[in-house]
Amino acid sequence: KVYRASTTAPVNIAVVKYWGKRDPKLNLPTNSSLSVTLSQADLRTLTTASCSASYSAAEGDSLILNGEPSDVAGARTQACFRELRTRRAALEAADPSLPKLSTMPVHLVSENNFPTAAGLASSAAGFAALVRAIANLYELPASPSELSKIARQGSGSACRSLFGGYVAWRMGSEADGSDSLADQVAEAAHWPDMRALVLVVSAAKKGVSSTSGMQQTVATSGLFQERISKVVPQNMDLMEKAIKERDFPAFAEVTMRDSNSFHATCADTYPPIFYMNDVSKAAIRAVEAINAAAGRTVAAYTFDAGPNAVIYYLEKDTEAVVGTIHNVLGDIDGWKPAAIEGLKSTVSLDEGVTSTLKAGVSRIIMTGVGEGPIKTDEY
Ligand code: DP6
Repeated sequence: KVYRASTTAPVNIAVVKYWGKRDPKLNLPTNSSLSVTLSQADLRTLTTASCSASYSAAEGDSLILNGEPSDVAGARTQACFRELRTRRAALEAADPSLPKLSTMPVHLVSENNFPTAAGLASSAAGFAALVRAIANLYELPASPSELSKIARQGSGSACRSLFGGYVAWRMGSEADGSDSLADQVAEAAHWPDMRALVLVVSAAKKGVSSTSGMQQTVATSGLFQERISKVVPQNMDLMEKAIKERDFPAFAEVTMRDSNSFHATCADTYPPIFYMNDVSKAAIRAVEAINAAAGRTVAAYTFDAGPNAVIYYLEKDTEAVVGTIHNVLGDIDGWKPAAIEGLKSTVSLDEGVTSTLKAGVSRIIMTGVGEGPIKTDEY
């Protein structure tokens, strides 16, 4: 007999960034963070977990990612497996009639509906899906917050992908990580008209990984102390308030300031780390021009540990935001023509901004706020 369970999990993009670990082994952060979960119609991981007494014990656990065999021996993946098995074993000990799934090898098959190489937080969706799929397979009664503590050990940002909508990762203070978990600030339906435009920018060479980059920042940046002690706590408060009140200008200002603050600590790292490139900076100029032309804040940029720009805006401002970007970029690869049909914008951008964006943006993804992991029968 083969036991099987499947789930999807979404990508999330932080508006108050996680950057820094106080415990690299347990992935305990130096600050709380907050993200928007993006729609799975455009970005999601689908993972099926199965186990069977007939699976080879010698081969053990395995993972096929986008059709290719992938490593499960890494310490972070192992930590997730161990935590989930321990919880299943406890259920089996309490009820001897349950099949001993905890003793069987687990096979995972995982697929992204977007290019993994695009640098789009695929590890967050990946670890959230891995944890949710095995928890479903093991029929664990654990809540999403409980599971977020396991996913966190896979990749910090993954803990926020256990929920839809607007999600906070509370840093916690316990040494064992028992209070470092995600919770939902608001459902997607609370503020459903939040949209995100992802400008995929191809990096010339692969940058510093977030894991290593944040360790270097913690070790060498003086600015970082200011960020974790003052800037982020204030941004967390302002952001939660902005979301509760559906106050887009406040949401946008905190989002842009927090991204700037995070990249400033990267520049203050010694030697410095640069994730944004000229194309990223042109995207910032474009957002500023769009906001100036609208006479109010209609768009907010944010950047993770790479050059891609994520621009948040509200549905009603699609014309001002998407119309302008489309004017500049035209029908580039991956753009969904139906969604932008009839949109025109008269905002004209600086010549240098226009040519830099045209040369550097390889793909556009239009999406919006979405739901958390969904159990599925699709294998
Ligand atoms: C800039 O979650 O990828 O995207 O815990 O080492 O796996 P690890 O790091 P990861 O870092 C994400 C950093 C960020 C900000 C964020 O998503 O909050």
